[in-house]
Amino acid sequence: MNVKVAKNRDLHEAVVLYFKNATLSRTSPSWTERIGMPLAPPTSYRGSRQLITDPDGIEFLHWCLPRMGLRWPGFRKIRGRVYKRLKRRLHELGLPSLAAYQTYLANHAEEWPILSPLCWMPITRFYRDRSVFQLLETAILPQLVQLAGEGGETQLRCWSAGCASGEEPHTLAILWQQRFARRYPTVEFHVVASDIDPQAIQRAQRGCYHWSSMKELPAEWKGEAFNVSGEELWLKDESRSRVTFLVQDLRDNDPDGMFHLILCRNLAFTYFDETAQEETLRRLVDKLTPGGALIIGKLETLPKGRWQIKPWSLPMGVYRKPFLSKEKKRELSRQF
Ligand SMILES: C[S@@+](CC[C@H](N)C(=O)[O-])C[C@H]1O[C@@H](n2cnc3c(N)ncnc32)[C@H](O)[C@@H]1O
Repeated sequence: MNVKVAKNRDLHEAVVLYFKNATLSRTSPSWTERIGMPLAPPTSYRGSRQLITDPDGIEFLHWCLPRMGLRWPGFRKIRGRVYKRLKRRLHELGLPSLAAYQTYLANHAEEWPILSPLCWMPITRFYRDRSVFQLLETAILPQLVQLAGEGGETQLRCWSAGCASGEEPHTLAILWQQRFARRYPTVEFHVVASDIDPQAIQRAQRGCYHWSSMKELPAEWKGEAFNVSGEELWLKDESRSRVTFLVQDLRDNDPDGMFHLILCRNLAFTYFDETAQEETLRRLVDKLTPGGALIIGKLETLPKGRWQIKPWSLPMGVYRKPFLSKEKKRELSRQF
């Protein structure tokens, strides 16, 4: 491999390039050639250790991710953990290698929805990106309460899309409980939280966490929001009851209703491909009430284009849907 090239490029891209070239010269068939090969008798590999080398893993992910509307850069850093899950799946199916799994996927359409959650790591924590939650407390939520009030609504509705094991929506509920519930006793604060991974949703519903996931949460909230039992912290009902969890694929489904606040952080705008990002953004904006806020990950950016949404705080990844103009309001009131 040309060392200068490796220095100048992202190292991982160089590795990918290297192994792509390497496959051209090897004598055994590459994964693309093997797609049509019949499967080895599955049970013969049960109990044996399937090896996933990084080059094989990278090749496999380059093949399967675009087929699921996902993009490789999002998975580069977490690929080691994805390999571990893939290994378990190979073992369950009795397959010897990722190449055989690829053939299996080509012949079993029902395997794709099983593969999809295997690629996801529900990495999250309470109060993730503290400055975002501070902005929520000092500016965003107070303005959204006002917005709801002006619209004659008694409910403030939030959606946490891709909520993993619940730390994000639970943080919202705790924040409300600690800072707003007494100030706005008549406002009903509700969070809908969705994720594609049923196991993550089960953990979220349980509401039981370990200290390690809440290092960033303000210290006094830990004592007030949780019942401590040894190493376990159980979220109290007053916050837990504010959150409803759904197993839902963001690419196909939305929760019912409109939302004043949507958090879609560290999911669509990191892992989805361009088309899926655009489609998701269009639907997220549709689900926001005028004047409502969308929060994406601090390191994420929205796809280029003209969207019905304006930056509120770019460094925090916060956007706001414009209010309806007076003419638009009049037009709507004439229609309904
Ligand atoms: C990295 S976690 C982000 C968790 C949280 N939003 C945060 O920022 O801390 C990404 C989550 O998105 C979920 N996910 C992946 N694809 C999804 C999809 N198509 N629909 C809904 N959730 C999805 C994964 O299961 C995972 O729990």
